[in-house]
Amino acid sequence: MTKYKKIVVTGASGFVAKHLRKYLSEKNIELISISRNDFKKFKNESKIISKNFTKVHYLQKIKNFDILIHLIGIGKQSVNVDYNMINVELTKNIVNLCKKAKIKKIIYISGFGVSSKSSVGYFISKYHAEKIIINSGLNYTIFRPSYIVGKDDHFTKYLKKQINHGEIIIPGSGNYHIQPIYIDDVVEIILQSIFQSKFRNKIIDLIGPNNITFKKYVKLFSKGTKTNIKKIDLEDIYHAAIINPKSDFGMDDLNIIIGNFQGNHQKLRKFTKIKFHSILELLETRRLF
Ligand SMILES: NC(=O)c1ccc[n+]([C@@H]2O[C@H](COP(=O)([O-])OP(=O)(O)OC[C@H]3O[C@@H](n4cnc5c(N)ncnc54)[C@H](OP(=O)(O)O)[C@@H]3O)[C@@H](O)[C@H]2O)c1
Repeated sequence: MTKYKKIVVTGASGFVAKHLRKYLSEKNIELISISRNDFKKFKNESKIISKNFTKVHYLQKIKNFDILIHLIGIGKQSVNVDYNMINVELTKNIVNLCKKAKIKKIIYISGFGVSSKSSVGYFISKYHAEKIIINSGLNYTIFRPSYIVGKDDHFTKYLKKQINHGEIIIPGSGNYHIQPIYIDDVVEIILQSIFQSKFRNKIIDLIGPNNITFKKYVKLFSKGTKTNIKKIDLEDIYHAAIINPKSDFGMDDLNIIIGNFQGNHQKLRKFTKIKFHSILELLETRRLF
């Protein structure tokens, strides 16, 4: 195990990136983080503000870094920005950038449920991105996470917003299952993948220890607040997603939750040997609030 690593992070101002950069910085890892917009640096970190991954002015700065962690991705599309542009084509550009900069390994965050049988647009784009990485000749680790939760992920922020308005909406019955994983566990696993050779050229599902229905999750999350939980007919909520690009649930958010994807957490526990945070406990103790 080489102790000293130099890491490039893309999509630096996103939810996973912010937690990961802070964690890696605390571990004294040298970081160069790239974002479209300005952001606050951590210790041991340099920043690059750029939208461009093709004709880059910063090649020399990242040359011969050990690993690039690719955290750019979208889960909702519009006429201006679609999955192909961001999840697929931009991944191609990032792979080429790694080759030009002689970065030998890429770590990529795909999605739990992605497979060769995917029929959902978001998953299909992630599947193609995975293939680009696998066929690139670079060393890789691909993670396929379920919902990653913390205090500031999109889903948690959505629930908090709804609680402030006094009502949480549940699409359909809410009886479909989710297996969220805590952000602190995710960044610990990413750190392992930086140093441990057993992660080399692997695709790993990141699923948390508790398999709970969406309905139960929402109930526990809002416990102790005066929030009405309202089930909305799926037809109505899909209709809202189709006609309103700003609706809380996008088409693929709905496709994914209704998809009811479930996996084997024990496999991840055995592989990483980390002590996972219980999501039920985090909810009971209101640590996600
Ligand atoms: N959070 C989860 O529960 C979860 C679950 C499964 C998979 N994932 C995947 O994990 C990765 C990170 O997720 P996250 O939750 O941290 O997402 P996030 O907070 O939305 O961050 C994604 C980042 O991607 C970059 N980005 C977004 N749109 C872009 C565009 N049009 N052009 C260029 N860059 C763009 C942005 O980086 P800058 O603003 O810094 O430029 C943004 O901060 C994504 O690929 C996501 O699909 C997340």
